[in-house]
Order: sequence, then structure tokens, then C-alpha cells
Amino acid sequence: MAENKRPETMARINTPALARAFIDEQIAALRAQIGDKKVLLALSGGVDSSVVAALLIRAVGQQLTCVHVNHGLLRKGEPEQVIEVFRNRMNANLIYVDAVDRFLDKLAGVSDPETKRKIIGAEFIRVFEEEARKLKGIEFLAQGTIYPDILESDGVKAHHNVGGLPEDLQFELVEPVKFLYKDEVRVVGKELGLPDSMVYRQPFPGPGLGVRCVGAITRDRLEALRESDAILREEFAKNGLQGKVWQYFTIVPDFKSTGIVDGKRTFEWFVVIRAVNSVDATSATVEEIPYPLLHHIVERITREVKGVNRVLYDLSPKPVATIEWE
Ligand code: XMP
Repeated sequence: MAENKRPETMARINTPALARAFIDEQIAALRAQIGDKKVLLALSGGVDSSVVAALLIRAVGQQLTCVHVNHGLLRKGEPEQVIEVFRNRMNANLIYVDAVDRFLDKLAGVSDPETKRKIIGAEFIRVFEEEARKLKGIEFLAQGTIYPDILESDGVKAHHNVGGLPEDLQFELVEPVKFLYKDEVRVVGKELGLPDSMVYRQPFPGPGLGVRCVGAITRDRLEALRESDAILREEFAKNGLQGKVWQYFTIVPDFKSTGIVDGKRTFEWFVVIRAVNSVDATSATVEEIPYPLLHHIVERITREVKGVNRVLYDLSPKPVATIEWE
């Protein structure tokens, strides 16, 4: 489709000046498209939807309603950051939906990875649909589609996929960054004043921590996963690895092993550390974390995370292993 092809004359946005020109152009285009009508956006807090939100806030202000769904599978501090940045600092119209119990109840006892993904995706659309129905007079739906999404698929990305909305809830699409590559989205995000932790965020899968809490998700194991991931991210940030390593996270499989604390035997979970470098996620190499840092992370996780007595370091490249464990 011609309308889904990046114009050949479009310059690569790699300077603040080019980002400013893009922002001005998009604000004018968004105002022309939306007029005085209302627009809805599913705001995950990822860089793409955050940039779209920031652009729309500048263009149409209170005509935008952002919906942030907390499905309980977000990383530590993420829902709080979305509220702080968009509601408190940018004065956006933001609906925060606490759907944690709803998702975790639906996922209880489900161990098959693809079934877990389907439940998370379907439930997300249902929650979003309910919120959309409560709002009156919405005519537009904004999406953080970027150019690689169009090139690699049919233009609908997994974690922004609200394309499953029923017939009577079809909106006109607003996709202001659909011709941008990821690095360009980041330059624009920086210029829009979004915090570095959002702009330079590592890739995070749509099903979130759900695919890292391997097997059937339980609340306590999910908590161990969230806490260990927060420790890993904190230590990577402190040691200059944030923004250098492509993707890093922890995994907590549904498996226990024996440990010993204060002379008493324990039977608890283990945490796996995964840190990889990649260009496009089709292949990946393992980041060689310096041993002193690795020891420090192991020490912190086993001391601070409840229910964990062991930490492993995944040294498998892709292929043969995938990046995620599910
Ligand atoms: P794998 O595990 O296949 O992951 O090597 C490649 C990249 O894709 C991300 N990933 C997902 N992203 N929905 C997403 O939006 C998913 O279901 C999903 N599964 C994997 C993964 O984090 C890695 O960056």
C-alpha cells in the first residue's frame, strides 16, 4: 500500500533540529486530522506509545484520553512512571486501570506459553474495549505503530494490538510515527522531553513478565521475578551497562532446588540472569557480565528476594536458545 511506504525524500531523523521539525509537522498534521474530535490511546509506557502520547498532548491536549492498563505483568515502577510522566508532568487525561487481579485470575493454572500469550492479548483487548465503551464521542484511535512493524508484519504490532475491537467500536487510526525507525522515535522522544529511562528503554515483550514467570504464574513467584529484575536493572544502570546491553532481565522457572540458610535446609526457586546483544532479535549473543558485578548481583538477589536460594547465568546464544524462556 502506497500510504504505508515511507516517503523516499524523508530525511533520517538523527539530530534535535530534525526532531523539532518532525514534531512541528506532526502537530499540524494531527490537528488537521483530528480537528475538535476526541482520540483514544492505549499507553503501555513503552517508547513508541509514549512518543505518540506526547505528540498528541502537544497537538490536541485534553481531546486525548490515554488508557494505561496494568495487567500485573509490568516491571517494578512502570505504572507509577506512566502516571508521573503523563498525568502529573504533562497534564494528560489518563485513565489508569488496575486489572491485576483480573489477569492473574485468568492466568491461574495455565502453563502453556502460547495459551498464556493468548489470554493476555485477549484480556487486554477486553479491558480496553470496556474503557472505550465508557467514553463517549471518541472517533480516533492512536497507535504507536513504527516502520519496522509495517515492514515486518501487516502493520499491527503485538503489544499495541487493539485491532481486535468489535465492529461497533471501529475508530479512524492515528499513527504519527508509522514511518519512523526505532532510533528516530528515540530522538523525537528525547526532544519531546520524555525521561531517558523511557526513551532508551530496552525491548519489553507485550505479555511482559508473564513469559518470564515460566510455567503457571503464581503471585509469589511473579513478585520474586519483579524484584530480581529490578535489582538487575539497578545494578546495570549503576555500572554503565544500561543503554549498552540490548536486553537484560531475569527469569523465574517453576522449579525449586535445595539451599541452606543459617544451618537449615531450604527448598526454593532459582533466578536466571539473561543479558544479550542483538540487532534485530533474530539472533543474539550473550553479554559477558564482569564477574565481580555478577557476584554482587547474585549476593543481592539471594539476600533481598523472598523465596529464592540460587541464581544462574544463561550463557546460551540465539540460536540455539531464544531470548525469552517461553
Ligand atoms: P525470542 O524469545 O523469540 O524474542 O528470541 C525475540 C524478541 O521478541 C521479544 N518477544 C516478544 N515481544 N510479544 C512481544 O511483543 C511477545 O509475545 C514476545 N515474545 C518475545 C523478546 O523480548 C525479544 O526482544
